[in-house]
Amino acid sequence: MSVDPGRIQLTSGDITQLRVDAIVNAANSSLLGGGGVDGAIHRAAGPELLAECQTLGGCKTGQAKLTRGYRLPARSVIHTVGPIWQGGAASALELLAACYGNSLKLAVDNGIRTLAFPAISCGMYGYPLDQAAYIAVREVMDFLAKDDRIETVYLVCFGEEVRQAYEQALQTMRGG
Ligand code: AR6
Repeated sequence: MSVDPGRIQLTSGDITQLRVDAIVNAANSSLLGGGGVDGAIHRAAGPELLAECQTLGGCKTGQAKLTRGYRLPARSVIHTVGPIWQGGAASALELLAACYGNSLKLAVDNGIRTLAFPAISCGMYGYPLDQAAYIAVREVMDFLAKDDRIETVYLVCFGEEVRQAYEQALQTMRGG
C-alpha cells in the first residue's frame, strides 16, 4: 500500500492557528471543554463553540462529532474522545485507532479535504507517545490509501518529543 508522502505532513506549533478545513479536538466525553488542546481550541474559537457543543449530547470514546470553527481559521472542528491510558489494555489501542478512523470518515462525509490532528490521548490522558504515534500514522495511512478525497492530513507536533515520535513512526511505516 502506498500513499503519496506529501499527503501526511508533520507540522509544529499550535493547532488553533492552522488554516485547514478542519482541526481535530482531543476532547472529553462531555464535549464541554477542558484543558490542553481542548482548552486552547475553545479559547481561540470563542463562546459560540461551547454553545454548539452543548447541543450535541456528548460523545463516546472513539467516536467523533463535527462543529463549526467560529473564530478559528479552520472552518470546522472535529471533536473526538481518546481513551484514558490505564496500563495497556487492547481496548485502548482500538479506541485510539477509532478516533482517527471516525474523524477521517466524518471529514470525508462533510467534504473536508485538509485536516489537522493533535496527538490524541498523549497529554492528560497519558497514552505513551511512541505507541500512540504508530497508531495515528497507521490509521491515517490506511485511510488515505483507500480514499483519495482527503488531500492532506497534518499531524501537529506540540513539542520536540511529539515530532520525534511521529518521525520514527513514519519512517517505520514507510519502510525506511
Ligand atoms: N496545539 C496542538 N497540540 C496541543 C496544543 C495546541 N494548542 N495544546 C496541547 N497540545 P491533551 P488528551 C497537545 O491533554 O491527552 C482535556 O482536558 C499536547 O501536548 O490536550 O487527549 C480534554 O477536555 C498533547 O500532545 O489531550 C480531556 O479531558 C496532545 O495535544 C483531556 O484533556 C493531547 O493532549 C484529553 O486528554
